[in-house]
Amino acid sequence: MSKTKEIVVLPGDGIGPEVTKEAIKILQTVCKRHDKKLSIRSFPVGGASIDRYGRPLTEEALTACRKSSAILLGAVGGGKWNDQPKDKRPEAALLQLRKELDLFANLRPITTYKSLLKSSPLKQEIVSGVDIMIVRELTGGIYFGRPRFIEQTEQGERGVDTLSYTTEEIERVAHTAFETAAKRDRKITSVDKANVLDSSRLWRKTVQESAKQWPEIELQHMLVDNCAMQLVRNPKQFDVILTGNMFGDILSDEASMITGSIGMLPSASLGEEFAMYEPVHGSAPDIAGQNKANPLAAIASVALMCRYSLGMPEAAREIEAAIEATLNDGFRTGDISSKPSKEYLADTTDMGSAVLKHLNPYMQPGNLL
Ligand code: IPM
Ligand code: MG
Repeated sequence: MSKTKEIVVLPGDGIGPEVTKEAIKILQTVCKRHDKKLSIRSFPVGGASIDRYGRPLTEEALTACRKSSAILLGAVGGGKWNDQPKDKRPEAALLQLRKELDLFANLRPITTYKSLLKSSPLKQEIVSGVDIMIVRELTGGIYFGRPRFIEQTEQGERGVDTLSYTTEEIERVAHTAFETAAKRDRKITSVDKANVLDSSRLWRKTVQESAKQWPEIELQHMLVDNCAMQLVRNPKQFDVILTGNMFGDILSDEASMITGSIGMLPSASLGEEFAMYEPVHGSAPDIAGQNKANPLAAIASVALMCRYSLGMPEAAREIEAAIEATLNDGFRTGDISSKPSKEYLADTTDMGSAVLKHLNPYMQPGNLL
């Protein structure tokens, strides 16, 4: 049996604990089947950590993350903590984790499932067969640029953020995008705002330069406003989209609707040493604690974990196939339900169990621990 893999779970706030619970069951099942030993430790993060320890991320949780093979994060945030100063807000934990662990490349696959085509607000012929990988830079850009402040002025106040990118920051995420494209359809669309922003002009020049090492990959540049439009006009034109932190944040939410629901989108945040996996949806406080949330994005995030951190690409494919089969069976949580007669309105645990059944029809969750 191989060396034990240390997994850190950060369930977080809102629906985070419910969806990570289902995802962990799936992870335990595939690891058992593939003879991979896991040690799983869980820590509060975000609002849950503020409530317990007075800050969104503890040193203990961060240290555990630094020792881990992979991290699974649920979601952070909620109205309850909105009035906190910015470094005490739940989101600060997420940003700190990304920065401290240097998770500079955020992979957000946008894949459509045949049986969910009806759930997309876009026409079926536009969305069917879409398969995009968004590679979002995650530790730079306007999220982290300095200076940033709000100051008093004679008229009132002035808020300042800084958008900055260095060649090195661009090069390393571009490298991830080219490597990713090499294993897919070999096409990259690099998205920027080079008609206005200097940081984007450097972005474009640097990506262009990196492309010389990847002659087999087709590179095109696209302005972000045009990309936002093209994503709904003709999303099939995209293979890999490479972009900065803020543009990637916005475009990935937009692209999620191609799949029918943001509740379907997994993500992987990768650095040289560490990796964190998280569903793209937020904490959804309005449905928290009601067993209504869609756990498929968290489950698909575990598939990405198997692929990128645990050396189990086969397990990743098995999980993805089990998700597809569950959807084909007609299981739907509220966010992806279009309620024709063949669908079952499933709650969070039903959905998790249905995926589990496809992975191993004889194994009940209770037998795993
Ligand atoms: C995301 C989220 C985060 C971001 C928030 C919660 C800080 O929207 O992961 O896309 O803006 O990066
Ligand atoms: Mg976002």
